[in-house]
Amino acid sequence: MGEAILKVEGLRKVYPDGTVGLKEISTSVKKGELISIIGPSGAGKSTFLRSINRLNEPTSGKIFIDGDDICQAKGTKLRKMRRKVGMVFQGYNLIKRSSTVQNVLHGRLGYMSSLKGGFGRFSESDTKMALEILARVGLEEQAFKRADELSGGQQQRVGIARAIAQNPSLLLADEPIASLDPASSEKVMSYLKMIGEEDGITTIVNLHQVDFAKQFADRIIGIKAGEIVFDGPPNELSDYTVEQLYK
Ligand SMILES: Nc1ncnc2c1ncn2[C@@H]1O[C@H](COP(=O)(O)OP(=O)(O)OP(=O)(O)O)[C@@H](O)[C@H]1O
Ligand SMILES: [Mg+2]
Repeated sequence: MGEAILKVEGLRKVYPDGTVGLKEISTSVKKGELISIIGPSGAGKSTFLRSINRLNEPTSGKIFIDGDDICQAKGTKLRKMRRKVGMVFQGYNLIKRSSTVQNVLHGRLGYMSSLKGGFGRFSESDTKMALEILARVGLEEQAFKRADELSGGQQQRVGIARAIAQNPSLLLADEPIASLDPASSEKVMSYLKMIGEEDGITTIVNLHQVDFAKQFADRIIGIKAGEIVFDGPPNELSDYTVEQLYK
């Protein structure tokens, strides 16, 4: 069931200083899955995530998104492919002095000419869409507040809303809850899961907290020293495997 939205073949990343970020990663991800990547610090989780939209240039390997190899894409083609990939960051990466709704509208920039986008000229339908998305993450009341007036958990929900505004087929989140308290973390993870399910968006989340991974993910991938050492549903991740992973 379900076609692969993402297919990774022999992905390898060696940084210019010779550090091997990823040895060899091959995997395939189905539409609508919520995957959590876990593993110790320095394992390659961020390198993996950032390679998928080539924020981080792979050394070798292939990455197919909806059947197209992003590693071969250039110019307009690359831009169009990146538009399909939403990103959520640990530090939210919001424009602090802009309103919540303006931040969400930035998710639409990939669809506009740079001239229009540069002048902040968003269409009425874009604004309406942004407000609707904010309502979906429970922030309709905060739409016209400055982003830096929101709590950390709320800011991360703006981060999710901005990514959703891009209408992505794939959502990548690198430790989205690392700066949040447990209650806010749970809320952010719940919204990620809910929106992924409702919109059929495949979501890949790097997490440090194994308990959150088990609670929310359909599938867990354990990475250690640049290689996949576990890949399965949460109920197959034993305490022993977790111990080996973090050892
Ligand atoms: N720009 C870089 N230049 C050189 N080495 C790097 C660079 N970025 C990451 N690395 C190295 O690549 C390896 C994988 O790093 P990565 O950031 O992907 O790990 P991670 O699993 O995300 O760790 P963490 O849990 O701490 O975020 C590490 O050895 C790291 O030091
Ligand atoms: Mg990381």
